[in-house]
Amino acid sequence: MKNGYLAPAGFEEQLAQELPEAKRFGRLFLSHPPAQRPLWVQNTWHEPQLISFTSITDAAKKLREIGKLWTFYPYQLVRKGALIQEKLPFFSPKPHPFPCLLPRAPLGSWMLLDDKTLLAAPNTSSPFPNGEPQFLQTPIPPSRAYIKLWELFTLTGQMPKPGELCLEIGASPGSWTWVLTEIKARVTAVDRAPLDPKITPDAFLKKDAFTLDPDPCVDWLFSDAAATPEKLLRWIEKWLLSGSRAKMVCTLKFQGKTDYAIAREFEKIPDSSLMHLAHNKHELTWFRH
Ligand SMILES: C[S@@+](CC[C@H](N)C(=O)[O-])C[C@H]1O[C@@H](n2cnc3c(N)ncnc32)[C@H](O)[C@@H]1O
Repeated sequence: MKNGYLAPAGFEEQLAQELPEAKRFGRLFLSHPPAQRPLWVQNTWHEPQLISFTSITDAAKKLREIGKLWTFYPYQLVRKGALIQEKLPFFSPKPHPFPCLLPRAPLGSWMLLDDKTLLAAPNTSSPFPNGEPQFLQTPIPPSRAYIKLWELFTLTGQMPKPGELCLEIGASPGSWTWVLTEIKARVTAVDRAPLDPKITPDAFLKKDAFTLDPDPCVDWLFSDAAATPEKLLRWIEKWLLSGSRAKMVCTLKFQGKTDYAIAREFEKIPDSSLMHLAHNKHELTWFRH
C-alpha cells in the first residue's frame, strides 16, 4: 500500500529528491514506503483510499463513514472541496496556548483528484492539520525561534522539569533561553554574541560553544547554533562517548544542499528521532530522549 507524504511548505523539491518515483500532487507525494523514511515530511497520510462519489453530499457521507475529523488539502477543485468539508463535522482548531497536551483524536486528510474521485486517509501521522500546529504567540521573546521549542515539547510530551540543568549553545538573542527560564529550568546559555538584555539565564558564557567539554551534570543539551551539521555531530559524539544521559535537542541547519549522510548519522543515534518541525526552515530537529 502507498502512503501520502506531505512536504513542508517550500521544501517540495527536497522531498521530490527523496521520493523520485512518487506521483505528485503539489505538496503531496504518493509513494510506497521507501527503504529509508523520508526526512522532508510534515505529515504522512497512512494508506489513503481512492473513493468515487456522485455528489457533494455523497462525498461527505463516504468520508464520515471512514473517519470523524477531517482536513481538506486544497490541491485543486478548492471550491468543491470546501463545500464537501462544510458537510463534515466542524473542525477548526484554534491556536494552542503553550504548554498544551497533544490532541488525541486522529485527524484524517483528504483531497480531490477530480470532480468524482477523492483520496482520503482517515489516519495521518499528526493530530494537527497538515502537521502544522499553530500556537498563540507572545510578543515577549527577542525572536520567533521559541516556537520551534514549543512545537517540539508539544509533539514529544517532554520538556525540562523545574530545576533541571539545561546547557544551551548558540543561544543569542535568547528566545530558547526565554522558553527554558519560563518553565523554571536552570539555564547556562552560550554564544559568541550577547543575549538580548531582557533575557536572564542563570549563567551566560560568551565563547565558542564547541570548545566546551561534556558535563555529567547537564540534564538537557540544546543547540540552535549556526554551525554545520557535521561540526555539531562531532561535538555531540563527544558527549555521547562521555556517557552523558542528557536529553538533547539540536537544530541541523543546512546551507544549500541537505547533508543526508550526516542527517542519517544523527538518525542512527539510539533513542533519538529526526523530524522536520512545521516551524523549522531549511532545518531538521534531532531529539534524543
Ligand atoms: C539562529 S541563532 C540562535 C537563535 C536562538 N536559538 C534563539 O532562540 O534566540 C544562531 C546562533 O548561533 C551562534 N553560534 C554559531 N556558532 C557558534 C559557536 N561556535 N559558539 C557559540 N555560538 C555560536 C551565533 O552567534 C548565533 O547567535
